[in-house]
Amino acid sequence: MNDNTQVRVSAFVDEARLTDRLAAMARIGATENGGVNRQALSKEDAAAQAQLVQWGAALGLAPSRDAAGNLFLRLEGTDASAKPVLTGSHLDSQPTGGKFDGVYGVLAALEAVEAIVASGVRPRGPIDIVAWMNEEGSRFAPGMMGSAVFAGQRGLENVLAVTDANGVTVEAALREVREALRHVPERELGGPVAAYVEAHIEQGPHLENEGLTIGVVNGIQGKRTFAVRVEGEAAHAGTSTRAERKDALLAAVAMVQALADAFHDAQDVVKFTVGRFEVKPSAPSVVASLVEFSIDLRHPDSQVLRDLGDKVRPICEANAGVCAVQVKELSTAMSLEFPAPMRGLVRAAAQRLGLAHRDILSTAGHDARYLHAVCPSGMIFVPSHLGLTHCEAEFTSSADSASGARVLAEVLSELAA
Ligand code: GLV
Ligand code: MN
Ligand code: MN
Repeated sequence: MNDNTQVRVSAFVDEARLTDRLAAMARIGATENGGVNRQALSKEDAAAQAQLVQWGAALGLAPSRDAAGNLFLRLEGTDASAKPVLTGSHLDSQPTGGKFDGVYGVLAALEAVEAIVASGVRPRGPIDIVAWMNEEGSRFAPGMMGSAVFAGQRGLENVLAVTDANGVTVEAALREVREALRHVPERELGGPVAAYVEAHIEQGPHLENEGLTIGVVNGIQGKRTFAVRVEGEAAHAGTSTRAERKDALLAAVAMVQALADAFHDAQDVVKFTVGRFEVKPSAPSVVASLVEFSIDLRHPDSQVLRDLGDKVRPICEANAGVCAVQVKELSTAMSLEFPAPMRGLVRAAAQRLGLAHRDILSTAGHDARYLHAVCPSGMIFVPSHLGLTHCEAEFTSSADSASGARVLAEVLSELAA
């Protein structure tokens, strides 16, 4: 396919349509402060999936879903034997999430495919738009479940058994979503993929600060996540002596402080987050009997990440005092680099479209991490206003959203040609 054809495909991207769809999705699970709460496999997630299927149907895209809860919409190509090109992201959000993280990549994919259809240039290979199940890992930890299972990096059974804070399993929650989407046929899990491209908001301030529109993502920084369980003993706040107490809260706080001290770096590259901290019984006059907390640890240098992550267990154990502590590593993902040809396609498309761009490392995690294990993968970033993300203020302009979809349309039509 020549450059002229590529430019023609992207010319069919419709900024207003993409903006309207982003707004429509933002109404599903809308929060009071202008954000979104669309937890994985919730009724809001199911409603968002149903909306996507409906938009796809109007375009003649065939929906299907796999046993891991991933949803696909297929644009058939002219060659039935060709491997599909995949593009998408996720529809689930953080509890006080924004209107763009994940959903932007799914709707940019829909917009790009709609542009390809409107251009009249039928691709040789099929293009599958995908909404991966539970990228955020907020309700069910760890995240990126659907893409991990699809890519054979996690077992389906292992994922189905994970429970949320109320003891609901992924399996049970999936059953409900399946019921809501019962008209959508089931497809095989996994399968060959020609390539994967994910558009996403940057979730950082660099593109905006530098007046750029497109980030050519060169890789994703590594991340290790842990669940820590500190067991003490419930006791009366007035009658029990300090010597008698097994205070799980004090032990957990000491662990978190010791970890924060150990991971402090003057360059501010190490990312250490305790985002969940649950205390039981959580009553003012009862010594805490149980604390469970999460650890999210990231660093772009895989060796540094290995070394720091290996300190988590000994530091927790050294600060447990009279309490018992269990440390479970939930996920281990080293830093990765996307293949140069995929980055080259994104860069060349941005150049052809006259969009200011630069190479950029993703310090956030994405489903592209798991696809990278099974096919040539790449990502396209668009600016995030002030870098705000995983919060209700998340914002990307309509113009930038459309620019990302244009680059995606070009890249997809080249990959599927
Ligand atoms: C993805 O949402 C991440 O936490 O990096
Ligand atoms: Mn995301
Ligand atoms: Mn996210």
